[in-house]
Amino acid sequence: MTNDFDILIPRPRTIEQTPGVLKVESLGGVTAPENFERFSAALIRNGKAMGIDLAQKGVPVKMVFSADIKVESFEITVTPDEVTIAGGDPAGLFYGAGAFEQLLCVAVNRGIRGAEMPCGKISDSPRFGYRGLMLDSARHFQSVETIKQVLALMARLRLNIFHWHICDSQGFRSESKLFPELNTLAEMTPGFYTAEEIKEICDFAAEHFITVIPEIEMPGHSKGLLALHPELCCDPENPGKEFCLAKPEVRTFLEKLISEFVALFPGSKIIHLGGDEAGTENWDKCPLCQKLMKVKNLSNIRQLENDFMNDMAAFVRSLGLTPVTWFTGSIMESTTIIQAWRTIWELKETLPHGNRMIFSVHDQLYLDYPNTAAEPFENWMPVLCESGVYNTEPYAAWEKEIGDLLLGPETCLWTETVPEHRVIAKLMPRLVAFSETAWCAAMRKEWFNYTRRKEVLEASGWFDIKAL
Ligand code: ACM
Ligand code: ZN
Repeated sequence: MTNDFDILIPRPRTIEQTPGVLKVESLGGVTAPENFERFSAALIRNGKAMGIDLAQKGVPVKMVFSADIKVESFEITVTPDEVTIAGGDPAGLFYGAGAFEQLLCVAVNRGIRGAEMPCGKISDSPRFGYRGLMLDSARHFQSVETIKQVLALMARLRLNIFHWHICDSQGFRSESKLFPELNTLAEMTPGFYTAEEIKEICDFAAEHFITVIPEIEMPGHSKGLLALHPELCCDPENPGKEFCLAKPEVRTFLEKLISEFVALFPGSKIIHLGGDEAGTENWDKCPLCQKLMKVKNLSNIRQLENDFMNDMAAFVRSLGLTPVTWFTGSIMESTTIIQAWRTIWELKETLPHGNRMIFSVHDQLYLDYPNTAAEPFENWMPVLCESGVYNTEPYAAWEKEIGDLLLGPETCLWTETVPEHRVIAKLMPRLVAFSETAWCAAMRKEWFNYTRRKEVLEASGWFDIKAL
């Protein structure tokens, strides 16, 4: 019998089953708190697709807020004559409603007639407050429709951070009215998001309790931009991928660009400044960079890069926002959030400096890597299968030491090798596995238990029904 409470994804913290059953056919009458009627409407709509008339008069499903429940957390109580879904806040209630939909879907997977749900109580809350997915829309561009599809999938898996890698060497995809030439870049696919489209995506994300963290890259990963503005390179005759670290006009330009960029994301309090993979060759040869390094009494060019990034991060802070950078090997001022991506040791190196951290170590969480060796991939990529993502431990070995400094994990889909039509194929099923890495207490994760639950839910059709 699969019809027990242990079929949910992500797996709840506690499940208590009690005697008795709820006859699913007798359900009817969904209520939600004022201003959250869209939750009850979505449950009624999805119930209808399952053959359940939740709009009829019957055993009520009551959605309520409870001051005793934490944020993003919920409790579901099922008795033969009432269902209560209680949330600590709107996100918690939304997640609770999604969990109840999973129970319904499994209960009716052979049709409504005679369908029963066990009685009992489910209590759940997330392990991490930061549960991220990064999507690269700079290399291969995706339509607004595809991005909404990704966001809806994230919401169903209770992921709450959309890190949007929107600018890179191959494309500057956010509309710039100050520098409209940037939007002509289109090395892999043409396209950019207008201010209206960005608002549409951010509003859709907010409705699904997802925070957008947009990324603007510097000082490297800027080849396309610098081909249009060679005056911002060390050697305008041979513009590379990196901004010159010493020219004052670079800072003026970037401050204007950042100001315009962040204004497109008024709901985003965290801004990613990139900072990864800058090469030093041009800086090493640049008289201005070399001179500034000496004036600042720095012993190597990476320190000048670090100074530059700290200045840019300070500029972001002056706008009232929090900067994030990829781990670069240098130390960022402690209020900058650091995203570890190359090795787990980046957590350990960052720890003494007190920065908050995000865990995205590539061989555990980069979804451009193939799920199986049968998929197209670049020769240098390792295979990263579903169980690899599932068994990732975001603290690595240092849970006690790192504690709250780790905000949470983020999985990344880079798209150099992923055209738009393969985005969902790359995410599924590994994003499902990731949802437990991000949500579940480590003790609740068991690979074989997970695969059973996933198969039951897949067969029930839950993954195919619509988000809110
Ligand atoms: C990265 O993968 N370059 C952050
Ligand atoms: Zn220079």
